[in-house]
Amino acid sequence: MSTQQHECSNAMEQKIHEEFSTRFGGEGILFASAGRINLIGEHTDYNGGFVFPGAIDKIIEAEIRPNGTDRCRVYSVDIKETAEFGLKEEDAPSQQWARYIFGVCREVQKRGFVVKGFDAVFAGNVPLGAGLSSSAALESCFAFAMNDLFNDNKIDKFELAKIGQSTEHNYCGVNCGIMDQFASVFGKKDNLMRLDCRSMEFEYFPFKLDGYKLVLVDSQVKHELVDSPYNKRRQSCERVAEKLGIETLRDATMDDLNRIKDEISEEDYKRAEYVIGEKQRVLDVCDALERGDYQTVGERMYQTHEGMSKLYEVSCEELDYLNDLAKECGVTGSRIMGGGFGGCTINLVKDDLYDPFIAVVTKKFQEKYGHEPKIYPVVISDGARRL
Ligand code: GLA
Repeated sequence: MSTQQHECSNAMEQKIHEEFSTRFGGEGILFASAGRINLIGEHTDYNGGFVFPGAIDKIIEAEIRPNGTDRCRVYSVDIKETAEFGLKEEDAPSQQWARYIFGVCREVQKRGFVVKGFDAVFAGNVPLGAGLSSSAALESCFAFAMNDLFNDNKIDKFELAKIGQSTEHNYCGVNCGIMDQFASVFGKKDNLMRLDCRSMEFEYFPFKLDGYKLVLVDSQVKHELVDSPYNKRRQSCERVAEKLGIETLRDATMDDLNRIKDEISEEDYKRAEYVIGEKQRVLDVCDALERGDYQTVGERMYQTHEGMSKLYEVSCEELDYLNDLAKECGVTGSRIMGGGFGGCTINLVKDDLYDPFIAVVTKKFQEKYGHEPKIYPVVISDGARRL
């Protein structure tokens, strides 16, 4: 953890603790989980393909203590709101942020594990709506805590990730894949993870870039996946897979797709074309990284951006502009990251181009849109944990 990040999370812990002792007296146990980046492999998770994420040094921390009742009292430091709820299905809180926590509790219970009443205070520095999975960080933090506090850590880590994913499906209206929660639960300092979302096998890839840096440029266009076109993208993919008689697009080739071209809509064709290309790009990037071939990594990133913008149509003007600026500056690779509809680009930049790139992108974006983008250097860090 960088010194700056360390100080920041210490200040956050202190604030959390102050609020906890004022509201509930005494102290609880601290848990944390992280946001994530994804080097490549977008919208492939729910298609049974590969993803290549890592947890980052932007985290959610929560201080939690069982309270001996069947009710939960939770205070959000950042939103400055309290939610109080019971643990039965009809007790769902009205605030969206609290539904993530309630959903996690319910999903733990639905799997036959225990959740009892608790008091909690939490805060975070994962930017909201930036495509860095603040919601997965929140879910994983509480899933990890419920496992630790009430279940002797008997729930395995994949199940913890699935608890977060089911929370999105059943309590938040987003039919997401497993990538974000997986990254948040399994994240390991200095390692990316290549996950096969069909077999759920994964490997850690030590993440070291020789002469390059990864940096996120946040357009600050807020992305909101709830009730969004995200679910529609997923439906398109499922329709095409069904037409092909396969479970997911993982098993489709461009030849297969072209065989049924006349039987599906032009839109569904484009969506599937993107996914089929993206599956291969993840594998190409992993191979290229092992050879230290950053040129190929970068090319694939640009191709992903092109596909997400033109075929999958999940980009926006600001992100396309950031991508164009990266290209103009000679940045090795750049693309929209995460679900889309706003948020960040992820950029692979040569060390000596880093400062000039940040200067140009900041100035030109400000000139065009009236505000500067936010810049987040990527630091690959640990995922869910007890502190
Ligand atoms: C969101 C979802 C993930 C994944 C990405 C796109 O972050 O939560 O499951 O589908 O979008 O790759």
